[in-house]
Amino acid sequence: MCGIVGYIGERQAQQVLLHGLEKLEYRGYDSAGIAVFDGQAIRVKKKLGRLANLENTLNGHGLPGVLGIGHTRWATHGRPSDANAHPHGDCTGRFVVAHNGIIENYLRLRQELIQAGHQFRSETDTEVVAHLVESLYDGDLLRTVFKVAAKLRGAYALVVMSAEEPGRLVAVRKHSPLVVGLGDEENFVASDIPALLNYTRNVYVLEEGEVADITAKAVHCYRLDGTPVSKEVLTVTWDVDAAEKGGYEHFMLKEIYEQPKAVADTLTGRLSDDNRAVLPELHWTLGMARGIDRIHIVACGTAYHAGMVGRQILERLTRIPVEVEVASEYRYRDPIYTDHTLVLVISQSGETADTLAALREARARGARVVAVTNVVGSSVAREADDVIITWAGPEIAVASTKAYTTQLVALYLFACYLAQIRGAADPATIEEVLAGLRDLPDAVSKVLDTAPAMKAFAQQFAWKESAFFIGRGLDYVAALEGALKLKEISYIHAEAYAAGELKHGTLALIAEGVPVIALATQDHLYEKTVSNIKEVKARDAHVLALTWTGDEEMASVADEVLYLPRVSPWLAPAVVAVPLQLLAYFAAVERGNDVDKPRNLAKSVTVE
Ligand code: F6R
Repeated sequence: MCGIVGYIGERQAQQVLLHGLEKLEYRGYDSAGIAVFDGQAIRVKKKLGRLANLENTLNGHGLPGVLGIGHTRWATHGRPSDANAHPHGDCTGRFVVAHNGIIENYLRLRQELIQAGHQFRSETDTEVVAHLVESLYDGDLLRTVFKVAAKLRGAYALVVMSAEEPGRLVAVRKHSPLVVGLGDEENFVASDIPALLNYTRNVYVLEEGEVADITAKAVHCYRLDGTPVSKEVLTVTWDVDAAEKGGYEHFMLKEIYEQPKAVADTLTGRLSDDNRAVLPELHWTLGMARGIDRIHIVACGTAYHAGMVGRQILERLTRIPVEVEVASEYRYRDPIYTDHTLVLVISQSGETADTLAALREARARGARVVAVTNVVGSSVAREADDVIITWAGPEIAVASTKAYTTQLVALYLFACYLAQIRGAADPATIEEVLAGLRDLPDAVSKVLDTAPAMKAFAQQFAWKESAFFIGRGLDYVAALEGALKLKEISYIHAEAYAAGELKHGTLALIAEGVPVIALATQDHLYEKTVSNIKEVKARDAHVLALTWTGDEEMASVADEVLYLPRVSPWLAPAVVAVPLQLLAYFAAVERGNDVDKPRNLAKSVTVE
């Protein structure tokens, strides 16, 4: 997501900020900007696109000064543009703010501030913070920031500076990370350690709800209620490469571990207190929602698997017939549209050529298109009629992990939303799914504890030639995703089968020691899956079964059993995905593969 850098000291701030932002480029961004106090006033330069664009603008027109903040923006509220890039200022130019995260109540605050006479220059949620600082400023920036923070709802990291107090930066951490770098007669603040390592290895890691008051000579930390906090200095021993990965060996592992947060972020603001799915980004009339008579879901790869889960939940909750197809086939198939066909495209990057072509085809044929994407301002997001953003944050490893689980969350929300406004076909299942979604971040966090078990299993089978994944119903879809993950990074040949389909041919491939990963989370299909496990056991396969904690039968059926924290079977694909990602990851590591950049694959497939 966004990157923040702040500096106060004796060096020229511009160089420190640009260097720091460069080190945060790995987080993904679409625009960049810096603000520097030149002794008289705060000057700001912001530019859409790569950091190099900003550097070119500064060439020969640099911003002199020893106090500044910089930012790389990953668009959330408002498309990527010069105006929406940070830092953002108030009406007077005396205060500027850089922000990472989301201010959930920004619309109400913005309206109040506009009514009070404030003039806004961007579409961002961040700008309300600058105007709030302006309106609440009482001569002390720290005190003012406490007052501002009390008005904000959401997850954010903020760094604020003021021309009124040019010896000071104030930083707040609420859910989004911030670290303070400790120098000699100079101090720094950044969203991540790599931005600081050129200057210092001594840092304070701000904890949830902490505020740092930073001058060149000292850093004082407080809780948001003003209580002082004494911090321990952490000395960073990692190199820059490891620091970018947050201490994880690979981006993929980091992204697997980011899933509880990514899922929570994708749910933020979308579950109401009276247990409804809220998607204000869909500008639908009741008539439109009620009129939909069929849904086409179109996507590629992992996003297609998310779509397969989406079909089952949408059909169950809305009783609308749903087709799901890979985009490369859909675009050339001449699909049948009614006057009320809704097309749902799913794409992490929002740039996949086939998905984009399918979207264009559907729109040309008069269908309304809803996009589920992780990238605000991507082609898919720009061209769709409605967009549901997954707040996974940038996904850097080629193999999709957190984007997939957040796509599932978006689809569960969408299915509940549509069912609720149409008059639910199955209110009990909606309640079950919504309750399960609330607990999902916790369940995903718990299932990460399976890592040692998956590592041990992966080490046993990493050199096998092939593996089979079996399951029924939603477990079959989860099996497809598990097999894809294993193939793409470990290069082990892996196939997923609907468990009941094995005996129609594939069972011939099952022989002694062949690994079979069996998924058994669908209670109504449990006994049938157990029978299929017995079929492969009878051919001496080596079976790892994934089932819920408390299952007393499976241990006597499979060779190994991995127990998962129980969630509603409807949500099982989001939980099962995690150990299967870990399995693929550890198998790839064991084989010495380039986990983050597997051979022959690209992160964004912009060609047919
Ligand atoms: C697999 C993977 C790919 C993508 C597919 C679609 O781990 O990442 O299968 O899911 O290329 O990409 P997006 O979602 O960007 O359209």
